[in-house]
Amino acid sequence: MKQLKRIKGTQDILPDASVKWNALEGTIRQVMQCYNFSELRTPVFEQTELFSRGIGQLTDIVSKEMYTFEDRSRKRLTLKPEMTAPIMRAYQENKLYANAQLTKVFYIAPLFRQERPQAGRLRQFHQFGAETLGSADPGADAEIIDTALSVYRKTGITGLKLKINSVGDPLCRIPYKKQLQEHIRPNLEHYCEDCQRRFDENPMRILDCKKETCVALNQKAPKLLDNLCPDCETHYHALKSQLKTLHIEFEEDPYLVRGLDYYTRTVFEITSDALGAQNAICGGGRYDLLAEELGGLPAPAVGFASGIERLIMVAEAQGVELAPLKRLDVFLIGMDTEAKPLILRLLKDIRKAGFSADQDYLGRSMKAQMREANRQNTRFVVIIGTDEIKKNSVSLKLMDKGEQISIPFDNLVAEIKKHYS
Ligand code: HAM
Repeated sequence: MKQLKRIKGTQDILPDASVKWNALEGTIRQVMQCYNFSELRTPVFEQTELFSRGIGQLTDIVSKEMYTFEDRSRKRLTLKPEMTAPIMRAYQENKLYANAQLTKVFYIAPLFRQERPQAGRLRQFHQFGAETLGSADPGADAEIIDTALSVYRKTGITGLKLKINSVGDPLCRIPYKKQLQEHIRPNLEHYCEDCQRRFDENPMRILDCKKETCVALNQKAPKLLDNLCPDCETHYHALKSQLKTLHIEFEEDPYLVRGLDYYTRTVFEITSDALGAQNAICGGGRYDLLAEELGGLPAPAVGFASGIERLIMVAEAQGVELAPLKRLDVFLIGMDTEAKPLILRLLKDIRKAGFSADQDYLGRSMKAQMREANRQNTRFVVIIGTDEIKKNSVSLKLMDKGEQISIPFDNLVAEIKKHYS
């Protein structure tokens, strides 16, 4: 019978890798706590309309990448492709604004997009991110960027580049779009099909196209940064000034637009040369109108999301260890069946004291059990033979020191504690 395989573009996180994932998630939680973000978990699927309204009908995510299906009662559901719209929905639905005027939340979650799989681009991937809801203050934007960078700093990865831009608000965007269309129109036929499709509804996305011909054609396009309304301009300047105060280096990229339609004012991306074509490790920005777009009360907000798989790829490329080597604390070896009940008792005592401990369940020889203990990088091996049982003692091998001592059963846990480093 044909062996079943995992779905293309998904990954099994194997035991050796999950050690890194756990350590990374620990770091993320620590940083989030320092920056005073609380965790918000949302369901894996939502009404499709949340994303088509929130992210935008014409975006790649909504038009071609969502896993959408009808359930048995013919409701249209979608596996969430991103977290910002669900967070905003949960914020409104649970009236989080009623408890505090400012709500700061973070998440670590699996997401689903039916993209063409390639290095760093998966169909099920994971993001961690943070969202500040209820404030239009540019300080919140600076703090969001600082939070993401702080997680990266703590993991030890380096060489990241931050790009920022302002995509303004409807007031400055409407006249700018016209200006941009006028600029593009004479050459429209030379742009790629995607750009031609975007020309009427969303011309600003043309600026974000990565195809060589379109990049070349865009060289002289007018910049929204030169056409911001006074409020957006003040906001953008305040953000830059706060980033400088925080000693955060950034590059201004007037053509950074991003692939989700909910952004207003600040947008940013963090990239790494250690990644291939998909070089963005983090993206985010401000979305002051999303709350109303979803039918809620006005709530200006800003956030970021970072790909976890991409962060791990950068760490691996840079030789950064995200977690210390996994070690088993204690392996117990019984030389004959008489030792079995004693091993069970000692295993329980050792585990109760908080150490990791294990024994053989395969009837292996003493030599093979020692090999297994070495494979698991074990700190201590406890050997229990007939002689030891008679003397109410066990042999404790201190694997790092290469020493072996004989100790009474009852002192085993205390001795392990004494020699543990
Ligand atoms: P995004 O740029 O679509 O933004 O995704 C953020 C990050 O998720 C990317 O920079 C990348 O690291 C990772 N990512 C995206 N797609 C994939 C994929 N197919 N495979 C692996 N990693 C991927 C958002 O999702 C927005 N919700 C960010 C945001 C939060 N804006 C405001 N708040």
